Amino acid sequence: MILSPSLLSADFGNLQNVLKDLEKSGIDWVHWDVMDGNFVPNITFGQHVIKMLRKSSNLYFDTHLMIENPERYIADFADAGVNMLTIHAESTRHIQRTLAEIRRHKMHAGIALNPATPLSTLEYILDDIDMVLLMSVNPGFGGQSFIPATYEKIRNLKNMLGDRKCHIQIDGGVNPENTKALTEAGADVLVSGSAFFAHPPFDKRHAQFQAAVAQ
Ligand code: DX5
Ligand code: ZN
Repeated sequence: MILSPSLLSADFGNLQNVLKDLEKSGIDWVHWDVMDGNFVPNITFGQHVIKMLRKSSNLYFDTHLMIENPERYIADFADAGVNMLTIHAESTRHIQRTLAEIRRHKMHAGIALNPATPLSTLEYILDDIDMVLLMSVNPGFGGQSFIPATYEKIRNLKNMLGDRKCHIQIDGGVNPENTKALTEAGADVLVSGSAFFAHPPFDKRHAQFQAAVAQ
């Protein structure tokens, strides 16, 4: 299981040190929640902040765009040094073209689905994606409760993907208590914001998530 801590719950005034500490704690991925105040009510950070922080981090930058018409910014996020760029299916009319553009810019391409968006949205783009992000809360805020219908969605997605090489990422309300059930259902990348950052030190907290999978 890959744990991708969401910086949404980190100290925004101290991101450089947070990234260093994550890396020292044996974490490989970090999750950037980019919000535009339009697709979701909240506003966070954008490509310029990510680009500056890229210089001091070797982590895999897992970037979740919660912005309208993300196709406008693909080149900017590539230039910022992002590794995975995930767009919401609900945020653009031209999903396939946007995913192809992400790969053309040498990033991995992810597609995110809100809790109410059906898996059938993915039917004709399975060859264009490296990851599916299933939202297990409605996007916009950290610290919300996990929506249980997500388990069935994960199992159905796993069947749909067959033996394709494609990550299944779960985002929202993830904690060590539901980690095992999520991985058993088929998820391999778990995002955690509040449940991760509220319990330092990072290496111990990471170990607790990993131990939950092994139980
Ligand atoms: C929600 C974000 C999540 C969020 C998860 O819109 O996409 O990444 O930070 O936070 P927790 O783990 O607190 O639900
Ligand atoms: Zn996210």
